[in-house]
Amino acid sequence: MVTKELESIHIYNDKLDLKSEIEKLNLSEEDDAVNFCDLTNIIIQYNTWMKYLPNVKPFYAIKCNDEWPVLKLLKNLGTGFDCASKNEIKKVFEVGVHPDRIIYANPMKSKSYIKYAQSENVTNSTVDSEFEIYKMFKYYAESNVILRFRSDAKKVLSILGNKFGCDAFENGAALMMLTKSLNMNMIGVSFHVGSGCLELEAYERAISTGSSLYKFGNLIDHNMKILDIGGGFPGEVGGMFPKIAESINNSLDEYFANLDVEVIAEPGRYFVNTAYTNISKVFSRREVRSEDGELEKIMYYVNDGVFGTFSCTLYEDLPIEAIHFKDEDSELFDCFIWGPTCDGCDKILESVRLPNLEEGDILAFPNMGAYTVPIMSTFNGFDKPKTRFYLRSDYVKYL
Ligand SMILES: Cc1ncc(COP(=O)(O)O)c(C=O)c1O
Repeated sequence: MVTKELESIHIYNDKLDLKSEIEKLNLSEEDDAVNFCDLTNIIIQYNTWMKYLPNVKPFYAIKCNDEWPVLKLLKNLGTGFDCASKNEIKKVFEVGVHPDRIIYANPMKSKSYIKYAQSENVTNSTVDSEFEIYKMFKYYAESNVILRFRSDAKKVLSILGNKFGCDAFENGAALMMLTKSLNMNMIGVSFHVGSGCLELEAYERAISTGSSLYKFGNLIDHNMKILDIGGGFPGEVGGMFPKIAESINNSLDEYFANLDVEVIAEPGRYFVNTAYTNISKVFSRREVRSEDGELEKIMYYVNDGVFGTFSCTLYEDLPIEAIHFKDEDSELFDCFIWGPTCDGCDKILESVRLPNLEEGDILAFPNMGAYTVPIMSTFNGFDKPKTRFYLRSDYVKYL
């Protein structure tokens, strides 16, 4: 039987050949850029997670990429979901996720969102301040709450600690006592080291602090059972993840030995980053020459930019790679790649070596799955790129 999913997901054998897909779809003639999402990469990331962090249950942070096939696949693989708003919770329900598999992990919530969580039996939420604890008490007193504290990595793509997380040492204990005095169910502690963590020791520091808070919770008779180690896991294949996982496992052994605890995490970028490859077309070009007429650089204008798929580059120092489809031995030039809008900040790459490209030539940009799709706009009237989904044939069972 052909399911709805199979109809919209293109199945391939062995290897996805970008070049032949681009030719088959005749993308040189299309006005709009497109993203290829190879769901296979998400399965590989999931299996890698299970290999290195088998005792940490991932709750995928849907803010990172909320496309339906991504959510459906992760649901089938068995992850939980970290939602930040009412609409994210709704989206996760739409793929058939039970409320037990959701953590409402935005510590700041409006009244109606709290009431929605209550009406839908989403029972686990994070809090990080007196104000939010009182608000939770007022609108959903029976909710389980998890105290988020601040513990920042020294090197990250995107800092979160300046906005969220109580100071564990200054007021963590007081907030735990407050929930106790209100007779609320505090069930654990959480942190987020920042998105795109590039510091190996960051999780250890946070887990150590978390264990002190956790033990204090037990001491004052909270029913502590969850340690939520947040997100921040790097999105590239290989890279730092195995080392970060090793550090987490060692830290859990050291600081949570003999404690009854379920460890969960909220990875976003980790699952989806490598799955997406942006396919953009050169639609214009300009040569920049010195006074004596020598070619200094070629500027290419492509049909996607920072108001589309490359939105993440506006606030993250993300490495962007451009792949061309000309002969390997083509002469290379210093190039600059602009997006299509009239805005001067709409630039993708300022310095990249590429061959001489003409109107209709295609560039592929790998690793574009995280914090791209949900942030795109139609600024200047350009349509948002659509996503074409792929899956390797031996993984069809996960659809
Ligand atoms: C509360 C929370 N959890 C998880 C994430 C996902 O982080 P990452 O994509 O770095 O794994 C974020 C990102 O902003 C977040 O705010």
